[in-house]
Amino acid sequence: MTDTPRAVLIDDIATLVTNDPGLGRGAVGEIADAALVIEDGRVAWAGPRTRAPEADARVDAAGRCVLPGFVDSHSHIVFAGDRSREFAARMSGQPYSAGGIRTTVAATRDASEAELLENARRLVGEARAQGTTTLEVKSGYGLTVADEERALAVAARVTDEVTFLGAHVVAPEYTDDPQGYVDLVTGPMLEACAPHARWVDVFCERGAFDEESSRRVLTAGVERGLLPRVHGNQLGEGPGVRLAVETRAASVDHCTYLTAEDVDALAQAARRPDPTVATLLPGVDFSTRQPYPDARALIDAGALVALASDCNPGSCFTSSLAFCVAVAVRDMGMTPEEAVWAATAGGARALRRTDVGHLGPGARADLTLLSAPNHLYLAYRPGVPLVAAVWKDGELVSGRP
Ligand code: NIG
Ligand code: FE
Repeated sequence: MTDTPRAVLIDDIATLVTNDPGLGRGAVGEIADAALVIEDGRVAWAGPRTRAPEADARVDAAGRCVLPGFVDSHSHIVFAGDRSREFAARMSGQPYSAGGIRTTVAATRDASEAELLENARRLVGEARAQGTTTLEVKSGYGLTVADEERALAVAARVTDEVTFLGAHVVAPEYTDDPQGYVDLVTGPMLEACAPHARWVDVFCERGAFDEESSRRVLTAGVERGLLPRVHGNQLGEGPGVRLAVETRAASVDHCTYLTAEDVDALAQAARRPDPTVATLLPGVDFSTRQPYPDARALIDAGALVALASDCNPGSCFTSSLAFCVAVAVRDMGMTPEEAVWAATAGGARALRRTDVGHLGPGARADLTLLSAPNHLYLAYRPGVPLVAAVWKDGELVSGRP
């Protein structure tokens, strides 16, 4: 048996982002000249280093920044195939449409389960090396009972945050019978998939599912014990936000096109004990050449905002939350603090998790050491690999301090 030290002190942290305003300055609870103690996979103590308790081992942060691991609340990493040419065509003026999803459906159905698992594991590793310690993963590229169930089984091997998205687009076999596909999704597919998932999601958008069908999918999922979340308002104004708030979804994702009523509804929903978070996906708007969502208007109105990657082969193939933070700061009106909070604590809210996204005592010891003195560098040095080391549940899982 190896001797793992019980209490590990991470010392000489120039800036510790705790996301706990009770522990430090501002909304991100920033502590200068800080230290943090990990014990049994949890944060045992965080505060000024001059007051740090004794520990069994010491890690030297050497004047760098420590922040909570990113909580990426939106990804589609169970897939096969590649759509780089579709991306290139978009950059030459082709618009993005929901129909591209079917290209990945064909490739995913053709792949073996082992190939899907290998690809998903590779992408989880890629995300982790960039500081992501919690990652939600959706199905949605199978669209038959067996293929959706298989995707969820793969997802469940790489994460605890598994989402059933049989209602991603109407399966090609049902092009002439979209209602028949909704019957399948809310019937036998849900029956087979629900045991593997925590969440149910629907792409409520022109070219995917209308309001009524989306409501049916969410209601059926909730009746089967799943928690709702929604893809909405990505390609145009529409009913997604309204439906998410009405069904008390944990999150409505994209929010690129919002009316004043949508912003107001999200602000109201933020005051509920079970808020509906507005999850913004800057990488999608970047990779589809769309306008960016107005994060400033949402935050000023009082909405809760999260940032996520939406890592998928079509609309956005990035796993980098640091990139999303940089774009959100540069082009969506967020301050660096708001963006860092949104990619950590905001993601945790969007997944209804209280154990991740912050570094107060009792939190999971999921944390990132940056090769930088503070968290502003995530936006200040875009595209630079700043993540030096990542711990998950108190274990070093990537890099070297
Ligand atoms: O979140 N919007 C729907 N689904 C994905 C896109 C998937 C794809 O294009 O393959 C998204 O952007
Ligand atoms: Fe998505």
